[in-house]
Amino acid sequence: MQAYQIHSGQKIAGLERVQCESTVLAAYEVRVRVHAVSLNYRDLMIADGSYRSTGDGPVIPASDGAGEVIETGAAVTRFRIGDRVVASFFPGWINGAPTPQNTSGALGAVANGMLADEVVLHENAWAGMPAHLNYAEAATLPCAGVTAWNALFVEGGLRAGDSVLLLGTGGVSIWALQLAKAAGLRTIITSSSDEKLERARTLGASATINYSSTPEWQDEVMRLTAGRGVDLVLEVGGKGTLSRSIRSTAMGGTIAIIGGVSGFGGELDPFALIGGAKRLSGIFVGSRSMLEDLNRFLEVTALKPVVDRVFPFQQAREAYSYLEQAGHFGKVVIEVAR
Ligand SMILES: NC(=O)c1ccc[n+]([C@@H]2O[C@H](COP(=O)([O-])OP(=O)(O)OC[C@H]3O[C@@H](n4cnc5c(N)ncnc54)[C@H](OP(=O)(O)O)[C@@H]3O)[C@@H](O)[C@H]2O)c1
Repeated sequence: MQAYQIHSGQKIAGLERVQCESTVLAAYEVRVRVHAVSLNYRDLMIADGSYRSTGDGPVIPASDGAGEVIETGAAVTRFRIGDRVVASFFPGWINGAPTPQNTSGALGAVANGMLADEVVLHENAWAGMPAHLNYAEAATLPCAGVTAWNALFVEGGLRAGDSVLLLGTGGVSIWALQLAKAAGLRTIITSSSDEKLERARTLGASATINYSSTPEWQDEVMRLTAGRGVDLVLEVGGKGTLSRSIRSTAMGGTIAIIGGVSGFGGELDPFALIGGAKRLSGIFVGSRSMLEDLNRFLEVTALKPVVDRVFPFQQAREAYSYLEQAGHFGKVVIEVAR
């Protein structure tokens, strides 16, 4: 089988195409021909060595892939040959709360991931694909889609009519914009690009802010919400945005701590939370049952995620570089097989 491998810290140039042996299936394993893989900011962090949980040796990267079942182990009951499936980010987190055990084997960092033409995982690690999505679209579900779902509706507990602030127009934020719009939420989204903000408005954003030309964007959020602030912020910015996100949040509201595209670290003044009785809530992607709930929602709403660009398998390095340049809007995908 064909795959890519990367040593964490060797940068994008360290991404190498390799030939691997196919393994014999154990009783509960399922072999999938991968059709498409989507990239996440995390894949850039693994390449540059800044991701916290990686193994020592080389790993097949990418957590997110979709494909077709081509072989099942003798005891498999959940899938049949020909089923269209996606891998769950944490193969061991099926439902309930996260634990150190069920979140220990994330794909593409500690365990081998999806950037290969064949992947074998336990049947419990796979979920069915929404029927109306193609493989490129479905490949965006496991990390970005589930993270947005978890932040908005599981940890965030939002309901129709509530308001949410989304930072930038990367994979998680655009997934969240689409889900929030479909669920009847009020959305405010920021970007460094007016052109991207125009695209966000065509997707249904209620209001937009250019964070480059409006560096005090939290004041604009307060103006847009008549001085109240939003119910939830999807905080993907980190060090450079967290204090402004807290100031953008309504009394009693939640800041879903997701990422650090502007860097990690920094300090937090406890008073920033105390006065407004605001909550910080760490999000760690989500479970397979959240992925299945998301799939149900997508089938009912017929929603399709925004795929910015699809690269062929032999141009995986170019796909990584494209994501790194941050010109994308939504998701970047690698087509593994047609
Ligand atoms: N905790 C979790 O479970 C989890 C899951 C998924 C992702 N994450 C994290 O969430 C973050 C986003 O991931 P992603 O895959 O969506 O990334 P991505 O697609 O690479 O997002 C890149 C975008 O971030 C925006 N950005 C950069 N600096 C910004 C700033 N100072 N303020 C606002 N936006 C800024 C830019 O948007 P514009 O071009 O529009 O300016 C850029 O295009 C990453 O840190 C990732 O590690 C965490």
